[in-house]
Amino acid sequence: MSDPQWTLDMNKKGGVIVKEQIEEIRVKSKEEINNVTNLRELDEVRVKYLGKKGELTGVLRGMGALSPEERPVIGSLVNTVRDELDNLIKQREEEFKQEELKEKLEKERIDVTLPGTKVKRGSKHPLNRIIEEVEDLFVSMGYDVVEGPELETDEYCFERLNLPKGHPARDMQDTFYITDEYLLRTQTSAVQARVMLQNEEKTPIRVICPGKVYRRDDDATHSHQFAQVEGLVIDKNISLADLKGTLEIFMRKMLGENTNLRFRPSYFPFTEPSYEVDVTCFKCAGKGCNLCKHTGWIELLGSGMVHPNVLKMNGYDPEVYSGFAFGTGLDRLAMFKYGITDIRLLYTNDVRFLNQFDRKD
Ligand code: DAH
Repeated sequence: MSDPQWTLDMNKKGGVIVKEQIEEIRVKSKEEINNVTNLRELDEVRVKYLGKKGELTGVLRGMGALSPEERPVIGSLVNTVRDELDNLIKQREEEFKQEELKEKLEKERIDVTLPGTKVKRGSKHPLNRIIEEVEDLFVSMGYDVVEGPELETDEYCFERLNLPKGHPARDMQDTFYITDEYLLRTQTSAVQARVMLQNEEKTPIRVICPGKVYRRDDDATHSHQFAQVEGLVIDKNISLADLKGTLEIFMRKMLGENTNLRFRPSYFPFTEPSYEVDVTCFKCAGKGCNLCKHTGWIELLGSGMVHPNVLKMNGYDPEVYSGFAFGTGLDRLAMFKYGITDIRLLYTNDVRFLNQFDRKD
């Protein structure tokens, strides 16, 4: 930066000459101020004239050489010019700032009419859809929805359901044992015993228990993990007619109004009598097709009247209370309802599969 050590030239002198010099500074500096193109240049000009070693400051410094009469005149002239320059600099400064702001606003302008970034909506898992549908239905009929642990004890999963150790029916469910006592529950029926036992007043029960269960299977129609929903109703005078009516409502809601039910006698240790329940094949409406193996029926539920031993073991007097129970695979329901052919698709989280269920509700 130029640094002119500007002082009065004492040889020519007198106030007149100084005045001329100040005038010169005034014109020159104003011109320079008007010509700067940015704030940095403006500051350079400010320092050149008004800085400690600036030209105008230099005039003041040389004032000692003037006569006492001239001093106040020159002093006041310098002050006037300084004020003028100050103001001019401020004005230019303001101009540059405005310009900068304008540029910034222009650069950062937001077009609110531009389309937004699209957020991809996830989709509800088909299994969760089914669970919610089942829950809504049963809640509307006055049931509670309850849950139990997936890591279960042998006691709740088997013993309290009339399946003592060594009972041959245990072989029906290939179990993942963690220890002799702990296992991954093979059926949501385990929650039945928990609900009965927990109800200390032994009041009537009306619950469904959806949840994950585990068995040592793995093929296109069996997965080592799958989902069931259990139903349990205990009250006075509960009969098979109640079971039948409930399952009819359940299945017609899930699979369509034209669904019929067929009760086949079967065996489960925790119910007596026990039934396997078939529903009209929804694919062929009962006419017979490859899905129902040309029988017109599809096996979907296990059910029955709660075995008196189970009532007794869990604190209910079978002379006073009776009840029904049922259990069904939610995966199979989902597969039927959505035409899914491989159960493992429900558990592998392939988005190509899941996307197909986008906004289906
Ligand atoms: N827990 C049985 C199973 O997983 C299904 C079942 C059958 C549940 C009869 C019940 C029932 O509640 O009464 O194979």
